[in-house]
Amino acid sequence: MKLLSATLDRVKPSPTIAVTTRAAELRAQGRDVIGLGAGEPDFDTPDHIKAAGIAAINAGKTKYTAVDGIPELKQAICDKFRRDNNLDYVPAQVSVGSGGKQVIYNAFMATLNPGDEVIIPAPYWVSYPDMVKLGGGDPVFVAGTLDRGYKITADQLESAITPRTKWFLFNSPSNPTGAGYNWSELKALTDVLLRHPHVWVLTDDMYEHLAFDDYQFCTPAQVEPQLYDRTLTMNGVSKAYAMTGWRIGYAAGPLQLIAAMRKVQSQSTSNPCTISQWAAVAALNGTHDFIAPNNAMFIRRRDLVVDALNACPGIVCPRPEGAFYVYPSIADCIGKTSAGGTLIDSDEAFATALLDESDVAVVFGAAFGLSPHFRISYATSDAALTEACARIRTFCDGLR
Ligand SMILES: Cc1ncc(COP(=O)(O)O)c(C=O)c1O
Repeated sequence: MKLLSATLDRVKPSPTIAVTTRAAELRAQGRDVIGLGAGEPDFDTPDHIKAAGIAAINAGKTKYTAVDGIPELKQAICDKFRRDNNLDYVPAQVSVGSGGKQVIYNAFMATLNPGDEVIIPAPYWVSYPDMVKLGGGDPVFVAGTLDRGYKITADQLESAITPRTKWFLFNSPSNPTGAGYNWSELKALTDVLLRHPHVWVLTDDMYEHLAFDDYQFCTPAQVEPQLYDRTLTMNGVSKAYAMTGWRIGYAAGPLQLIAAMRKVQSQSTSNPCTISQWAAVAALNGTHDFIAPNNAMFIRRRDLVVDALNACPGIVCPRPEGAFYVYPSIADCIGKTSAGGTLIDSDEAFATALLDESDVAVVFGAAFGLSPHFRISYATSDAALTEACARIRTFCDGLR
C-alpha cells in the first residue's frame, strides 16, 4: 500500500522553495544576498495591537474559544465590513481562522467535490491551485496579461465558466502583480457572474488597505449586491496591520457555508490562537492612523523599484495600484546568455542566474502561473531595494 494519499499526489511542492533554499545556502556561505521574496511587511505590529495581545495573556484569556472566533472579534469584523465595504453581516455569518490561508482552505474543503472547477485568474497567489486540488477540485486558469494590467476581461471569464464551475476566485489588489480592479472593471466581471447563478465567488481582499494613488478598493458583493448570497468575502489582519505571525484571517458569507467551514475547522485546528484574536479585535476597532504613512512609504518604494527596473534593458515593469509587489516582464531577456554563461531560456533560469551571479533573490513567474516574469516584494528597506535594483541593472547589462 502506498504511504501517500492520491490527493497529495496531485499537489506540487511550492516552486518557490528552490530559490529560497538556494538563497539560504548562499547566505550560509557568507554571500550578501538581498532577499526580495518575502510576502510580508517589514514594519512591526503597531504597539496598541501588541498591548492588546499582552493584556489578553495577563487577563488569562488563554483558553479554547468558540471554534470559529470569539463574539467580540466577529462583531468587530461585522463593523469593519459595514464601515469599509458597505456590507451587512451578522456575527453568525463570520468565520475566523488561523490566517486567511486557513479560511480559503476551509471553504474549498467544505464545498469541493471531484471534478468541480475553480476559476483562478493568473498570475495568482501560489497557494490557490494546490488548495483547490487538496479539496479535490480542478483549478481552471484565465490569464491576465501585462498589456491589460494583468486583469482578466469579462469575455475571458464568460468563456471559462462551465456547468462544473463551483467558484470564481478573485484577488484584488493582487499577489503577485499588485493589480487592483476598479469599480467598472469589477462590475464587468460581476455582470458575467449574474448570468451564471451556479457559480460562487470567493474574494480574497487581503490587500484591501494597501491601495495607492487614486485607486479605490472595491469588493464583489459591494459592487453587485445581487451576488451577496453566493459570495464569501475573505480578508485578514496579516498585511495591513503587519500581523503575519499572529495568524488571524476571516471571512463572511451565507450561513450554510460558514457552518460548513466551521465543521472543517472543528475537526482540524479548532479555534485560532485566543491571544491573537484579542489582538485582532484591537486592530480592527482601533486607530487606522498608521496605514496612511505606511502606504506613503510603500508608494515611495514602489516608484523607486518601478523606475529602476524600467531602466534595465530587457525589463518592462508596470506601476501597480496596490499590495507591495511588482511583476515585471523579462520577455526581452529570454534567449540571451548571462555574463556568467547561463542561457536565460525561462524566468526560472533568469531568477537562478540573478541569485547565483548577482546575489538578488526574486521569485520567478512560473510559480505564479504567468511567464516570463518575476516578482519582487518591495516590503523592505529603501537601501536594500536601491542596491538590489543596481545589481539587477548590472545583471541585465551583462546579458548578450
Ligand atoms: C493573496 C493572499 N491571500 C492570502 C494570504 C494569506 O494570508 P495569511 O497570512 O493571513 O494566511 C496571502 C499571504 O501571502 C496572500 O498573498
